Amino acid sequence: MQKDLSNYRKSYQKSELLEKAISNNPMEVFQKWFHEVEVTDGVDEPNAMTVSTIGLDGYPKSRVVLMKKFTFEGFIFYTNYLSEKGKAIANNPNVCLAFFWPNLERQVLIKGKAEKLATNLSDGYFESRPRGSQLGALVSEQSEPIKSRQALEEKLIALEKELENKEIERPKHWGGYLVRPVSIEFWQGRPNRLHDRIRFSLQEDLDWKIERLQP
Ligand SMILES: Cc1cc2nc3c(=O)[nH]c(=O)nc-3n(C[C@H](O)[C@H](O)[C@H](O)COP(=O)(O)O)c2cc1C
Repeated sequence: MQKDLSNYRKSYQKSELLEKAISNNPMEVFQKWFHEVEVTDGVDEPNAMTVSTIGLDGYPKSRVVLMKKFTFEGFIFYTNYLSEKGKAIANNPNVCLAFFWPNLERQVLIKGKAEKLATNLSDGYFESRPRGSQLGALVSEQSEPIKSRQALEEKLIALEKELENKEIERPKHWGGYLVRPVSIEFWQGRPNRLHDRIRFSLQEDLDWKIERLQP
């Protein structure tokens, strides 16, 4: 079996990324780009990002999660601390985040260190979730095998019964990570594969070094 995709070819020409037009703080550039993506049609979940971790087995692993907040400190997402990614981060907090926004022909790549979010912030977010999602977080031993879909649904029914009319507290193994960036690269597609790439790298004095990279 084979499928040849060599004719898939697209010229990127929607925008440009020039040093003179951007802030010297990458989180401000991110905020501007994110806003532009949000107000441009064509991306369903602009906050979906790929998180790559270095696993205990030595392999990198990537998966999509939803960014729930960003601030000058970094990028926040929520998950199960005992999941495969949770165990990977406990062993090595270095992660990479990737956003791809095809509607504006943009990619952002972030290297950073993940740390558990303060418990009161995770509590606050957990409380804000719909009850169904709270139960889902409780019932799923994320990344562990289970023998069938039915077994999972039965677990849920049992839990719903147990917690009927009770407030659901955040389980300690579920919460947020804050990824503090050490490098943020902005990629803007340009014609003839001469794309714009600007990388911000955090220096020891906490200033950001700005470099243009060849496409
Ligand atoms: C659009 C999308 C959004 C997702 N959002 C999350 C999320 O916010 N948190 C999460 O733990 N998993 C999320 N997932 C599921 C993850 O991709 C992944 O399956 C799960 O976190 C288990 O990953 P792990 O076994 O590598 O730890 C999302 C998947 C998709 C496709």
